[in-house]
Amino acid sequence: MDESADALLVVSNRGPVHFEWDAASGVLQAKRAAGGLVNTLGPGAHRHGARWLAASTSEDDMRPEAARLLANDRIGFWPVSVNPELYRAYYDIVSNQTLWFCLHGLWDSPRRPRFDRHWWQAWDTYKQVNELFAAEVDRAAPPAATVLVQDYQLALTPALVARRRPDLRICSFVHTPWCSPDELSALPDEVAATVLDGLVGGGPVGFHSQRWADAFRACVEAVLARPADTFVATAAVDSEDLAAVAASDACESEHRKLRAAVGDRRLIVRVDRLELSKNVLRGFWAYEELLEARPDLRERVVFAALVYPSRVGLAEYQAYGQEVLSLASRINDRWGTPDWTPILVHPEDNYPRSVAALRSYDVLLVNPLRDGLNLVAKEGPSVNERDGVLVLSTQAGASVELGDSAIGVNPFDVSATAKALAEALDMPADQRRLTAERLHKAASRRTPQDWFDDLVDAARSQGGPLAQ
Ligand code: F6P
Repeated sequence: MDESADALLVVSNRGPVHFEWDAASGVLQAKRAAGGLVNTLGPGAHRHGARWLAASTSEDDMRPEAARLLANDRIGFWPVSVNPELYRAYYDIVSNQTLWFCLHGLWDSPRRPRFDRHWWQAWDTYKQVNELFAAEVDRAAPPAATVLVQDYQLALTPALVARRRPDLRICSFVHTPWCSPDELSALPDEVAATVLDGLVGGGPVGFHSQRWADAFRACVEAVLARPADTFVATAAVDSEDLAAVAASDACESEHRKLRAAVGDRRLIVRVDRLELSKNVLRGFWAYEELLEARPDLRERVVFAALVYPSRVGLAEYQAYGQEVLSLASRINDRWGTPDWTPILVHPEDNYPRSVAALRSYDVLLVNPLRDGLNLVAKEGPSVNERDGVLVLSTQAGASVELGDSAIGVNPFDVSATAKALAEALDMPADQRRLTAERLHKAASRRTPQDWFDDLVDAARSQGGPLAQ
């Protein structure tokens, strides 16, 4: 590990891998973490030989075998051990049930949020875990190192680190959207101010899209009455890694299985975490409207939904998962025939299978209610082999770069989504080819290294006493 002023630390809640002990074989297995954050950060962190601090709640991550497995990796994963009970309050209650819901506009306002005494206890824990991360950064960072803190789970960490270590050059990056000052005002004043202070107090704050940076600045202006230093750096797909997964035996075998299930029918695909903001239900309702309106498409199209589990500790996510599965089975019962299952739901985390689906789609549906970027919207066009068309929510950060080559939809408008699916399926072959080429180009314009370098530049633009 580089101990000079060039040293880099990445700090995030979720780490690049986690370890699972397989009792049957007696072997510790490293598992790649699911989700866009690791795909976004990984290549840059790897190239720079960064030290990566991330939460660990499992004893398996702390086993000596885990350290041995990681020794050959250029990323120095530095597990920050968090007591599982504290982790639940910090991750489930404050990070996900409160901040995530607020930033994505997901409140069920007659019931939630509810800032009662249990919540305030969780808030104390959130502060405590952020302190713990700041202390670990202090311990891990050589003088004048560059520190890149990721996301809302660690919103207080940047300012806490800056206070402990004025020599470090820090920036933070928020992968989610940011909400309006009105939406933020649902948080108690003290909470909103502490979150905003925690981010702006640690140097520049980055976002995937100008729109979220503007919303953040408006919140800082409204709550803290000061300007905020923001920057925009749009994340990119790791095309090489994706191509390697696409060419792997595991992906080939999933591809064969999927093609056998779909046959010569057209294929609509979605790949998402099973997550409220991803808007899976409206996607299925739209598909049902399509089947109602277009008898010619019945038995001629299949919708494959690869929706891997997320945040299963939260009742909202469990209920949503159930609702998604029941809706798919109701639609299948209503429209299916002995030879045709209209919706194939795969609710497991199987990355090679997801990539196989992205290779195979005729239409990719990405319709989040609000999304910081949505990497799937870029991954699809970069590996698709069938001149597939992208139907993309105008509320996804990715629509800034891809909107011109995609069919844009208001994610709340089920009928418009049904029409967009029809338009995508009906698009003539030559137009599909041109659109797919444009999409591919737009999706590959930047690399993950470009994104990572933007963060490093933003942090280093701060300087630090030892850097001057
Ligand atoms: O970019 C992916 C993302 O939406 C990040 O904003 C966030 O850190 C992460 O997913 C959260 O997912 P999880 O709770 O599964 O770690």
